[in-house]
Amino acid sequence: MKRYDRRAVLAGGGAFLAAQLSGCAQTTAGNSGRLSETRIGGTPLTLTAQERTLTLPGATGSTPVWTYGEELFPVYRLRLGESVDATLVNRLKEHTSIHWHGVRGPNAMDGVPYVTQMPVQPGESFSYRFTPPDAGTFFFHPHCNTAEQLGRGLSGILIVEDGERAFDDDIVCVLKDWRVDKDGRFLPFITAEGAGRGGTFGTLRTANGQASPEIAVPANATVRFRVLNLDSTRVSDIGVQGADARVLAIDGNVLEGFVLDTWRLGPAMRMDLALRTPAEGGKITLIDYFAQEPVTLATLVAGGSVSGGPRNTATGPTPARLAAPDLTNAEMHELKLSASATPSDYPDLPPIVLPDGRKIDLLDSLCSTTRTLWAIDGKPWPQTGHERLPPPLMTLARGTTVRLQLTNTTPHVHPMHVHGHTFKVLSASKLKRPEHWADTVLVLPEERVEIAFVADNPGNWMIHCHIIEHQDTGMMGWFRVV
Ligand code: C2O
Ligand code: CU
Repeated sequence: MKRYDRRAVLAGGGAFLAAQLSGCAQTTAGNSGRLSETRIGGTPLTLTAQERTLTLPGATGSTPVWTYGEELFPVYRLRLGESVDATLVNRLKEHTSIHWHGVRGPNAMDGVPYVTQMPVQPGESFSYRFTPPDAGTFFFHPHCNTAEQLGRGLSGILIVEDGERAFDDDIVCVLKDWRVDKDGRFLPFITAEGAGRGGTFGTLRTANGQASPEIAVPANATVRFRVLNLDSTRVSDIGVQGADARVLAIDGNVLEGFVLDTWRLGPAMRMDLALRTPAEGGKITLIDYFAQEPVTLATLVAGGSVSGGPRNTATGPTPARLAAPDLTNAEMHELKLSASATPSDYPDLPPIVLPDGRKIDLLDSLCSTTRTLWAIDGKPWPQTGHERLPPPLMTLARGTTVRLQLTNTTPHVHPMHVHGHTFKVLSASKLKRPEHWADTVLVLPEERVEIAFVADNPGNWMIHCHIIEHQDTGMMGWFRVV
């Protein structure tokens, strides 16, 4: 009988070394189906954005992926209160940056080229230093030419542990499709048909870089299972078979907990589950029910006992660190999500001032689309000439509660993401969801979703669709908290 020592899993050192020696990227550490993990927390970390080759499942040839390390989807863990000290080194042939999705960090560390920092050019580096104010399941990714950079795999996972509730095991599961042909070559990341509709779908579905992997878990144990949708396009309807699952957290925000039926998980959305694993040899499957035929994304195989004996597995919401919205004195805004072929035109806008004081009035071609297909409130990103920033969608005094009605006037779903803030999902006209905190919310076709948050983080913040082709072709705007 195998025994799982969580510390050994978290170290992942052997696989890292092997990958480094071979000079190729690996999908996952060994064949446990797990991603390799590194504990940070005050320890400086270097993230080298670089092209590496690996063989994707089923492909006859190798694929030039872009990664931050020796492996796809590196997982970094730290405890609440510890700091992130990550230096991005750009070894790509184009500029990049790192956005820490869902982290309510300082504006200067938000990683949006021309809005919070200058792009990190090839050969340059940039240090991101911040202390995440919340525990949760986060990820990080670039913010220009995202369809290609994220499409090639450039992303990583950041787990901030609250330390209050321990599980027998804690497993990360990253869902991402790849757009490759049978030889493993990338197909176009953006297509006219996809960009103007629901987005361009990948050809190969993976979990932790493998096709429907088996993930080893301890038997008869309570495990935390963190599911992240890092795909650029696909909305899944996630369910579990073979165990009772409770939803512990949405976008990393712990909630009262409820029994999982299925949960609609759009691009960039995350869901943490608490699972009771079966006896040795038993299996739990993670399923996407969205397609006509349910798709098995991964199988958890119980294969051993837990080392270290039982731990405290109490569940309950963590103390709220998020300011409660004051709904009666809120500022109301409606943001219409629409199709738009006509770029807006605002000739005399003042330039945006970066946190370091530098003034920006022009974007470059990597951060601006050549096609305008979508808009927020009639304002596509960027505006005419495809090089000027649009005006802010709203300017909020610090401390204001804002109630945002997201009105989808299109026949497509849009997972809408707000930077720098975590919002409460108050109501939705179609898809019923319990009230919860999130940083990304799905707005179904013709749906109205109301969210609210306290604008307590000063700076210039993006709000955009996380179907990356929609973001890249106009469904992106920004607001200012002063
Ligand atoms: Cu993951 Cu601007 O987003
Ligand atoms: Cu969209």
